[in-house]
Amino acid sequence: MAKIPPHIIDDIMSTARIEEVIGEFVNLKRAGSNLKGLSPFTDERTPSFVVSPAKQIFKCFSSGKGGSVVTFLMEKEHFSYPEALRWLADKYGIQVPDEEPATPEEQAKISERESLHIINDFARDHFVETLHNTDEGKNIGLSYFIERGFRPEIIEKFQLGYCVSKGKSFTEHAIEKGYKLEYLEKVGLTKTKEDRHFDFFRGRVMFPIHSVSGRVLGFGGRTLMADKKIAKYFNSPESIIYNKSQILYGLYFAKSDIIKYDNCYLCEGYTDVISLSQAGIENVVSSSGTALTKEQIRLIKRYTKNITILYDGDAAGIKASFRGIDLILEEGMNVKVVLFPDGEDPDSFAKKSSTSELEEYIRDHAQDFISFKADVLLGEGSEDPIVRAGLIREIIESVALIPDQIMRNVYLKTISERFEMNEDILQSELQKLRRDHMAREMNAPEIREIPIATQGSPEQATTSDKKPDNEIDHSEHDLMRILIEYGSVEMSFEEQNSAGEPENVTTTVAEFILHDLNTDELVFQTPVFQRIHGIISDAISENTFLKPSYFLKSEDQDIVRFVSDIAIKNHELSQNWLTKYGIYTNSERDKIKQATISSLFIFKVRRVEKEIEELQNKLREKGNDLDDEALRDILSQQVLLENVKKVIAEKLGRIVLR
Ligand code: CTP
Ligand code: MN
Repeated sequence: MAKIPPHIIDDIMSTARIEEVIGEFVNLKRAGSNLKGLSPFTDERTPSFVVSPAKQIFKCFSSGKGGSVVTFLMEKEHFSYPEALRWLADKYGIQVPDEEPATPEEQAKISERESLHIINDFARDHFVETLHNTDEGKNIGLSYFIERGFRPEIIEKFQLGYCVSKGKSFTEHAIEKGYKLEYLEKVGLTKTKEDRHFDFFRGRVMFPIHSVSGRVLGFGGRTLMADKKIAKYFNSPESIIYNKSQILYGLYFAKSDIIKYDNCYLCEGYTDVISLSQAGIENVVSSSGTALTKEQIRLIKRYTKNITILYDGDAAGIKASFRGIDLILEEGMNVKVVLFPDGEDPDSFAKKSSTSELEEYIRDHAQDFISFKADVLLGEGSEDPIVRAGLIREIIESVALIPDQIMRNVYLKTISERFEMNEDILQSELQKLRRDHMAREMNAPEIREIPIATQGSPEQATTSDKKPDNEIDHSEHDLMRILIEYGSVEMSFEEQNSAGEPENVTTTVAEFILHDLNTDELVFQTPVFQRIHGIISDAISENTFLKPSYFLKSEDQDIVRFVSDIAIKNHELSQNWLTKYGIYTNSERDKIKQATISSLFIFKVRRVEKEIEELQNKLREKGNDLDDEALRDILSQQVLLENVKKVIAEKLGRIVLR
């Protein structure tokens, strides 16, 4: 891929608004000068994900991730650095010099994940092209969609396509273009039987399935034959980019309306989403034939806490909504259910009705889960006490899944009123169920979600930089923070000149620190700090001073993360450190000089302490095997270091007390 020129990177970074971009993935609410929402990286219940529009950075306090808008896209969508920039350029209409089509050699270098995305994007374009510009596509595919009542704009919006029926037309075309057979097979577009290749989706109309950011993860392909023996839909097989339990069809198109209306409609099929969307109800997604999963519900939870299930009124639809209800309640979300008349799904109903009739139907038939379950289960036997008791128990079982106690009690009240039952009896039944539930949970081995970062493609994984904050040496952290935040600030002090006379010398904070570290031959131990150290050294030798914002544009996301971390943490760390050493500063900026020198000394003290620690470890581990001389050697080193430490500490004390 062609490199993006630096001035265009600048352009992209200054045009992109982090709050807008992240707003596409996370429901953000204002919190002071920042925006807050639920972390898209963990399964948290209280929002700890912060976006600062002023600083153009984000920080996720539950996963530790943080950085610029580019970092966010790389973490969330597994983009590479240039991909994230291109995505932004595309969003903000910034021209980026043409991307060379990836040649096979280039392809080999890109991660497999990326290759699969590229192939799916290519296939999507190919199928769209086929639908509109070939005879078979037009006569069979397009006329089918039009017959179904899909209008051209909706066909275009959902990028619907057609795969011709001739055995391997797509596969041949793809291979001609240099795409690898291996990858075509991995995404399931090509099947191979006894060395013969053919298109998996041949003769089907194609529904691309998008990620939250609009990349094609896979396809659903519908047959146009009425033959009951042929599966109506084929779907892409599971691959590293297609995991059907974690995908919701239509979410890419729905997410902004889900946020806007604070509700998500959940239906069963591809065509339901498309028809509702065509009717103007765009906050709609579908679980596409798979039983609804926890992961899918959590995807929705990023945008809203309210789900309305829109299922067929047949037995299968009802059974599926019961399962869905419990899963949704368990996630602490609110659920309503709308059943369509038996034999109708949202798609067929939408086609028969006007938008206002559809909206009215949904409004009038949306039930909370208690009355939904009651209506369905009670049916004819509404007076039979045994049926009633069973039903009440069944409903309480759902209530018991709700994590929030207040919510549970609200629902108990509803049940007590509706069935004219004593609340205490319901309460004790609920408690019993909760206890069973907990007992089961405690026996079950805890399965934790793997943080997204560790699933990333190998080239994104960096070595030891991913240490949690508390393992990072705070003295290094603090010194680096001062270097970045105040590096270009000037400080002056007295020094003796060659004639032995006092002379006022002026230097910058960065020059001072780097010179001092150089003299003592000290380097940072944290790899990312070493890299920043290198960048600043180079800049100083060219007489340039780097502003913190310079680092936010870096391709090195560890650097971006660090710089945005210190910006968002607003000196908390250093205050702690200064307090720990009995140092109290009012405004750091007023006393940058003092802060610089003390940070530098603390850095050195810590280094000495570390060396002492290592000596002591050595003594502990090998003490018995050491001969007298070696022992004495270590002990004298230790004494020496203790003295150095004392000297530094005294100097530090003088500076600080002055
Ligand atoms: N589905 C599937 N495989 C099948 C049948 C269904 O994956 N063999 C999935 C599809 O995602 C489909 C959804 O289940 O959209 C719902 O199935 P169904 O109601 O049978 O299909 P519709 O979406 O209503 O499709 P159509 O209106 O074209 O019949
Ligand atoms: Mn249908």
